[in-house]
Amino acid sequence: MIEVRHPASKAGSILNGKVNFPLCLAPMVGLSHVALRLVVRDYFPADAFTIWPTEMLNSWKIPREDLAKTPEAMRSDREVGLVPQILGNEELFIAQSVKKLVEWGAEGIDINMGCPVQKALRHNYGVALMGDPDYAAEVVRMTVRNSQVPVSVKLRAGKQGDFEFLSRFVGGLEKAGASWISLHPRSAEQKRRGKADWTQIARLKEVISIPVIGNGDIQTADDVLQMMKETSCDLTMAGRALAARPWMMWQLGERLGFAPPDSDLVRDSNGDLRKVPITAIEEGAEYGRSLLRLILYMKVYFTEDLAIRKLRFHIRTTCVWLLFGHTLFSRVSKAKTMDEIELAVQHFFSVPVEMTERTDLRE
Ligand SMILES: Cc1cc2nc3c(=O)[nH]c(=O)nc-3n(C[C@H](O)[C@H](O)[C@H](O)COP(=O)(O)O)c2cc1C
Repeated sequence: MIEVRHPASKAGSILNGKVNFPLCLAPMVGLSHVALRLVVRDYFPADAFTIWPTEMLNSWKIPREDLAKTPEAMRSDREVGLVPQILGNEELFIAQSVKKLVEWGAEGIDINMGCPVQKALRHNYGVALMGDPDYAAEVVRMTVRNSQVPVSVKLRAGKQGDFEFLSRFVGGLEKAGASWISLHPRSAEQKRRGKADWTQIARLKEVISIPVIGNGDIQTADDVLQMMKETSCDLTMAGRALAARPWMMWQLGERLGFAPPDSDLVRDSNGDLRKVPITAIEEGAEYGRSLLRLILYMKVYFTEDLAIRKLRFHIRTTCVWLLFGHTLFSRVSKAKTMDEIELAVQHFFSVPVEMTERTDLRE
């Protein structure tokens, strides 16, 4: 058995000692919804605990919304460790949102300081807060003031290469009461292009005392271990690749000696545990299996129209790891109903399909 739990890691102090697994899913608009989380959870080791995001939730809207009917905020009763992400900068709305989210089951609240869309830049939220360190700290302070659960911040690198700025900025958030930081070390200008600079995660670890979650360009279970080793981060976070390869949780869990997932998705028709997919062909088949499971969950939670939109977006983002993934995407784009999509997926995966370990994450 490989040594599991990173000895130097403070992941345990995220959510008071509960986190014992080195990987979590990243918050992603349009992708990190309840249906994807449940698929990832179906591959998650039975004895592991990590934190789980939501899609970004708008603090100006949450107070007026019925969270059980808001697709971005839907959750399942079997989900634990939920740390929803909010976007905001005004205390009244943040306070009302946090109260509602804690009642909904949030175990922590994450503040988005990485969203680079134009609207965020104009209205001083998302990554725009990184241009205003004092106010960014104030947003943390106002959230902490109104929250009984820990508050974290997800951010990008400052102006590229400007580590002094980043460390001062994060120092301000720490003083304001942030319980941990997730760093996606790309600048706002880079959006999601270029390479994430993991050295910034390592350097940040050296200068702050709260836990740091490292994020950016993790594609495989090996990458998780590599990032932990290179940066000493307390926890890693994967977005696009974990959406494409949700069984990365299972692969990593097995390598680290965790118990197998407690789900029929990892069992064969006799109820026996299957072998963890490793080869390109095994992973290709697993992509098909996990996609069919995603379709199943989407049908439960979303209206037909929304499910189709979200599923197309999911496939567009993740099919880049499949050989001829664009063919899958074009067939799914032509299908008009969820049932037609399901048939197209079954047909596509009725022959062996290869999945590559890595792709150049351009999206
Ligand atoms: C489609 C998409 C939507 C995203 N939306 C959010 C978001 O709402 N909040 C956030 O903090 N980051 C968001 N991100 C950034 C991811 O959380 C993550 O930082 C980024 O994708 C890098 O991680 P990766 O290389 O593992 O994908 C989004 C990324 C993608 C691909």
